[in-house]
Amino acid sequence: MTHFRIAPSLLSADFARLGEEVKAVVAAGADLIHFDVMDNHYVPNLTFGAMVCQALKPYCGDILMDVHLMVEPVDDLIQSFNQAGADIITFHPEASRHVDRSLSLIKSAGKQAGLVLNPATPIYVIENVLDKLDMVLIMSVNPGFGGQSFIPNTINKIKQLKSILDEYESQTGKRIRIEVDGGVKVDNIGEIAAAGADTFVAGSAIFGQPDYAQVMEQMRQELAK
Ligand code: DX5
Ligand code: ZN
Repeated sequence: MTHFRIAPSLLSADFARLGEEVKAVVAAGADLIHFDVMDNHYVPNLTFGAMVCQALKPYCGDILMDVHLMVEPVDDLIQSFNQAGADIITFHPEASRHVDRSLSLIKSAGKQAGLVLNPATPIYVIENVLDKLDMVLIMSVNPGFGGQSFIPNTINKIKQLKSILDEYESQTGKRIRIEVDGGVKVDNIGEIAAAGADTFVAGSAIFGQPDYAQVMEQMRQELAK
């Protein structure tokens, strides 16, 4: 049976109280904490760097830090986030000249690695690096901002990706996870899971409500259907 994971995105948290916000979502049952790193170059927005991630590490406890790099170039920052305590690092293939090398930088530090596919990025970019991937992150909005609407065609893309990854698993025994990011809510999480995703990033859907545990519980009820 699939183990579904919910990853609150700190992008929609109260930035003046990030430590408390991380503690609150950990207590509310988060499976991962999603860090959106934006550089105002690869995406038109600016968030935080490795120092903030490192400062928040103790607040995460045993919960994995899932670092989504929306930066260009990526290699120097991969090294910084490796050192800052990231557990999973994902980046956009368009932002690296040498995708295989960037993935190797993550894997050689003993971390989990993933590629992020924008809505218009074709799935085939992962084809020759499947052996280095632990996860593929499908963007269901264009990256850069929280609170956008889920792009419906993403459902088809997840289904296609799922069949490629199932085939790879049957050949190699290695399971690569599918994470979805952007516009994930209580009312669409079931459909996204049915398409084949197992890890769900949610920013505004969780931090926009007063009771984080209640939203995550509602999401889990949808996933259990
Ligand atoms: C967008 C980020 C997302 C974002 C999701 O570039 O990668 O993680 O925070 O926010 P919601 O859940 O509000 O769409
Ligand atoms: Zn993200």
